[in-house]
Amino acid sequence: MKLWAGRFSKEADERVNDFNSSIRFDSRMYAHDIKGSMAHAQMLGAQGIIPRADADAICDGLDSICGDLQSGALLFDPQAEDIHMFIEQELTKRIGDAGKRLHTARSRNDQVALDVRLYLRDEAAAVRALLLKLLETLCDLAGEHLETVMPGYTHLQRAQPVTLAHHLMAYASMFMRDVGRIADASARMNVCPLGSGALAGTTYPIDRAMTAAALGFAGPSENSLDGVSDRDFCIELAAAFSTVMMHLSRFSEEIIAWCSWEFKFIELDDAFATGSSIMPQKKNPDVAELVRGKTARVYGDLVTLLTMMKGLPLAYNKDMQEDKEAIFDAADTVKLCLVTFTPMLRTMTVLKDNMRAAAARGFINATDCADYLTKKGVPFRDAYKITGGLVAQCIARGLTLETLPLDDYKAASAAFDTDIYEAIALETCVRGRISAGGPSPQAVKAQIASARAFLQREAADGGLEG
Ligand code: ARG
Repeated sequence: MKLWAGRFSKEADERVNDFNSSIRFDSRMYAHDIKGSMAHAQMLGAQGIIPRADADAICDGLDSICGDLQSGALLFDPQAEDIHMFIEQELTKRIGDAGKRLHTARSRNDQVALDVRLYLRDEAAAVRALLLKLLETLCDLAGEHLETVMPGYTHLQRAQPVTLAHHLMAYASMFMRDVGRIADASARMNVCPLGSGALAGTTYPIDRAMTAAALGFAGPSENSLDGVSDRDFCIELAAAFSTVMMHLSRFSEEIIAWCSWEFKFIELDDAFATGSSIMPQKKNPDVAELVRGKTARVYGDLVTLLTMMKGLPLAYNKDMQEDKEAIFDAADTVKLCLVTFTPMLRTMTVLKDNMRAAAARGFINATDCADYLTKKGVPFRDAYKITGGLVAQCIARGLTLETLPLDDYKAASAAFDTDIYEAIALETCVRGRISAGGPSPQAVKAQIASARAFLQREAADGGLEG
């Protein structure tokens, strides 16, 4: 018999029951539901809305339910409409009439809006912790590769020399912004909808500030209609998670390319690669490919949420039950990817010589050659043209700028001298790029120091209460 059976003259069709039921996916919020109900019951008791003894009995009952669900002594009833109904019914089974008082001055609409916030607060904290781990790994790896010269690319064409450290710290910048985005979304999510009731508040003398404080919120939400019908926080987190995935996916794309024979810049650890069922020589970067692939589903989750909300009138609509599978999947996926991606990165072998060799081909020191002339007084546009001519000569003769004879340089411009070879040596090109944010070891050391300071601040901050 349904909790709401009073108004109805017949049982719901079994197909409707199945269709309506959300317990198979919202059961994972049981601990958050119980936490919210305890705060609500305490408040009802403190305000004299229900007897204090009942409030205590409710909390004890909920506590035992939580323990039994955790231990597996109590199983979720797939017939229950949702986790909220299931727990309330179980409570009443255990403590009788006091259990029936729990839902006073509350609706499942404000209850579910609360539960999802509490659940996502923990998920956001978990993703943040994984991002901080990844950032630490990036800083460590960058510290080991300050002098590992590799080609920097634009249009996937070799462009100018950088170092692996510089390249890795570019990703660190992205992941630091991701941590910031999750913090922003979490801060805006941190208001308590409890007390909004079904949509129009309640006539009971509830204390919304008390429940909000007990549950670690900054305060109660401002408007009861918005309190029950806002899912911005799901969308914002899904957007932040999508951006994390976009960054991981770009990184994965590079890992995949770097593993190929065409690049061979890295070798993945055997524990983080897979073989082929038919081709004995294969070692595939499946982890990176799956991260790239799973990015699609997180974007899909974001689009699901945005589309689900777009036509909804105020206030609660059952459509909103569809929020959970989408945002849970987004959080599950981003966690799963980070958990695997970071150790894959940590254990890979960097093939420095191959990176160096690739940097030595492709004229990535051509800008430095032009800069050499500019520093000797040749206007940059002329220097650019002269160097272009030299590159064309090299290509035609199968030479590089390093192997082009001095006479040919001098024929192109009187400003060239023997020190040109020193000026275009790859190490000189990298070390000379001392501008802040650039690839010189000293500039990258500053980037690592700033990322480590970020990590230290984040560790001290600890994020929102879990
Ligand atoms: N299972 C529902 C959901 O996830 C809980 C809220 C139900 N409220 C209602 N008025 N039917 O949205």
